[in-house]
Amino acid sequence: MTAALEVRDLHAYYGESHVLQGVSLDVPRGGAVSLVGRNGAGKTTTISAIVGFVPPRAGTVSVAGRDVTGRAPNVVAAAGVGLVPQGRRVFADLTVRENLTLTARPRAGGWDLERVLALFPSLGRRLEHRGDQLSGGEQQMVAIGRALMRDPSILLLDEPSEGLAPKLVDEVGEALLRLRGEGLAILLVEQNLALATRVGERVYVMNKGVIVFSGTPDELAASTDVEARYLGV
Ligand SMILES: Nc1ncnc2c1ncn2[C@@H]1O[C@H](COP(=O)(O)OP(=O)(O)OP(=O)(O)O)[C@@H](O)[C@H]1O
Ligand SMILES: [Mg+2]
Repeated sequence: MTAALEVRDLHAYYGESHVLQGVSLDVPRGGAVSLVGRNGAGKTTTISAIVGFVPPRAGTVSVAGRDVTGRAPNVVAAAGVGLVPQGRRVFADLTVRENLTLTARPRAGGWDLERVLALFPSLGRRLEHRGDQLSGGEQQMVAIGRALMRDPSILLLDEPSEGLAPKLVDEVGEALLRLRGEGLAILLVEQNLALATRVGERVYVMNKGVIVFSGTPDELAASTDVEARYLGV
């Protein structure tokens, strides 16, 4: 069976700066995979190269067996890739309801507002509040809900725990585990190793634009040298 996402030997540049130097990773269908690494390791660039914000100079990206390498962001999104961007990017002057519904792609049996509110009940009380009236945790829920409303086959999340209190990080983790349980494929980019290993069935460690480790959370925990060298544990 083809993978939900297959990245092969991806190279990407900012100008002359060779940031991604041959990144390969796989997210199986219905599987959850985490990508961890320090500031500047190349995690966001990996996501940008997958979704079409930064065209890769070499390598391939396939979504459910379909080659989308270097395609425009709307094409990659239409192929089934949902993005929860770093920093959440919730529209400040739109309400929660508008943030969730304006970019939705309704499909019979797919995600709708009711299902998002079942995942994040606290948003139900905030539907008519503007994006800039929300806490960081609520904004993160809106960002995840907005991506789900486009009915992705794989969800990419870029540091969803950033700036959140531990209780809210737990809540985001619970939601991701529920989504994983429902069979949604997930690529979780994180610096929070506890969250990354709780959600991911497999963990990739990135450093200076290359994957330096891949294994299960248990295998990572046993690799104290990897944790010390690349994750500062
Ligand atoms: N728009 C850009 N133009 C030039 N260089 C960039 C740009 N964005 C990122 N970089 C550089 O590319 C490298 C990888 O950055 P990237 O944002 O992918 O890291 P990251 O792993 O997501 O880090 P963080 O955890 O801080 O978000 C860094 O050296 C960074 O300074
Ligand atoms: Mg980043």
